[in-house]
Amino acid sequence: MTALIEIQHLCKRFGASKVVDDLTFQVDRGEVLGFLGPNGAGKSTTMKMVTGFLTPTSGTVCIGGQSITEKPLQSRRQIGYLPEGAPLYADMTPAALLDFVAGIRGLRGETKRQRIADVVSRIQLGDVLNQRIDTLSKGFKRRVGLAQAILHDPQVLILDEPTDGLDPNQKQEVRSLIQEMASDKAIVISTHILEEVEAVCSRALIIANGKLVADGTPQELEARSRYHNAVSLQLSAEQAPLAAARLPQLDWIDSCQTLDNRTLLIFPEGGQSVIRAVAQLATTEGWQVEQIYQQGGKLDDVFRDLTDTAGARS
Ligand SMILES: Nc1ncnc2c1ncn2[C@@H]1O[C@H](COP(=O)(O)OP(=O)(O)OP(=O)(O)O)[C@@H](O)[C@H]1O
Ligand SMILES: [Mg+2]
Repeated sequence: MTALIEIQHLCKRFGASKVVDDLTFQVDRGEVLGFLGPNGAGKSTTMKMVTGFLTPTSGTVCIGGQSITEKPLQSRRQIGYLPEGAPLYADMTPAALLDFVAGIRGLRGETKRQRIADVVSRIQLGDVLNQRIDTLSKGFKRRVGLAQAILHDPQVLILDEPTDGLDPNQKQEVRSLIQEMASDKAIVISTHILEEVEAVCSRALIIANGKLVADGTPQELEARSRYHNAVSLQLSAEQAPLAAARLPQLDWIDSCQTLDNRTLLIFPEGGQSVIRAVAQLATTEGWQVEQIYQQGGKLDDVFRDLTDTAGARS
């Protein structure tokens, strides 16, 4: 099966500075790819090249098997794009804008009316349909942007920080919408909200200084965290210091950190799962366990490790 998005050795230079540096990756139908990286890493620049708004310095982008530079119209028809910020026609109303965009996208008559009605209801734009866009709140402007991106039901969606500026309820709504649409599309979202990656993405890429530094499922990336399989153990204030002294003596434990006078964080040797062994040890030693759980790993920790060493651009 051909990937819906195929990117090979993509580079972009602005003067002397190389802001996208040899990116190669694919996105298949059914995938929601989280595109992560610090400010200035090159996410928006990459998205602009993928959607044909910016010409690559070198490398290729194919959408549905067609080159975006050689067949720009055919490729762009298959794409819905939410750019960063809200570059919308400020003096139009959402109703007029959606009608205009639907026309450009080739929708006509009843199909057009139906698609607009569907999107307006899914993105809950009904109350602001006839208000000028420049008078809308930031979140509503973002929602209008999202509405125009999905209007023609494209196979490929490129969403640059789709939940930026949305209130918590709307963030949830947009995440659900992305999940609902995922099965028959290839979706790329950039985001700085790492919980969002765990919630909606089937895969994540991390870039730093324009270079790919990680590619995997959120679980695979979390497994690279030092907190992966770490065990949090809460005991009584008397027993916690005894356990803190005893635990590092065991060869299956790498180290033990005291979080407060009752809670220990136990790092297993080699990242293995040791929660059962810790529970067993607590029984043998007669420790009264008030709480014990195993951590999955923290994506923000992995993000920091991978992008700090690469050094973030301003
Ligand atoms: N037209 C341009 N001319 C010169 N430099 C540019 C241009 N567009 C972007 N850059 C630079 O390219 C780098 C990458 O910018 P980009 O907007 O792609 O980052 P980003 O990963 O989207 O960051 P953020 O998380 O802040 O949105 C930055 O250093 C930026 O200043
Ligand atoms: Mg950006």
